[in-house]
Amino acid sequence: MAGSDDRKWIADRRNLKRDRRAAERRSGADRRLEDRGHPEGDRRGQPERRHADRRSGEDRRNEAAWQPIPLEAAATGSYDDAALVAAAVDAREFARAQFSRFKVGAALETGKGEVVSGCNVENATYGLTMCAERVALYKALSEGRDGFTRIAVVADTGDPTPPCGSCRQLLWEYCGDIEVILANLTDVKRRMRLSQLLPLPFDARLLE
Ligand code: THU
Repeated sequence: MAGSDDRKWIADRRNLKRDRRAAERRSGADRRLEDRGHPEGDRRGQPERRHADRRSGEDRRNEAAWQPIPLEAAATGSYDDAALVAAAVDAREFARAQFSRFKVGAALETGKGEVVSGCNVENATYGLTMCAERVALYKALSEGRDGFTRIAVVADTGDPTPPCGSCRQLLWEYCGDIEVILANLTDVKRRMRLSQLLPLPFDARLLE
């Protein structure tokens, strides 16, 4: 025989399942509307939810700020290509690429001419590997840097090594349409805008 506590538990479970089924029947749009009443309060008003605040300089919600800009307009930092690439080459030496043996270095430059570098860091699960670009980006962000202008990516390959899809997304969201310099140990192989690598991005504008 079920005691009253057991009966209450069973009834609660039944109600929970019923509520879940009802929620599943509702459309995504309905759920999105409902999500506005967030248990921790409406986070939309708080600074960290204001995507424009995450970006430096101009208000990135201004559509014009996301348009590709000419290459020469990005050359605002004090590092020339060679110095930025050299920083990526140096960082590459620290790569923890014991599984792929594919060492990558990256160097991210800010408009003030600061350079933050990174290398790829692998691990035995493979899937948790972090690319050089994101290591550099996370280092820079965690040091309070912003206003990024260029990133150099270096691998010891004949063909250029472009950032992977995850890195493109993160770079886009935190750096905007920066210049991407792809180099090997001796030459700059290619120079492009991030918008060329990620032409139809998903970003904060679509959440508004
Ligand atoms: N990798 C990077 O660090 N950056 C790239 O742009 C491409 C790939 C790393 C991840 C992994 O450690 C290794 O290269 C092989 O994919």
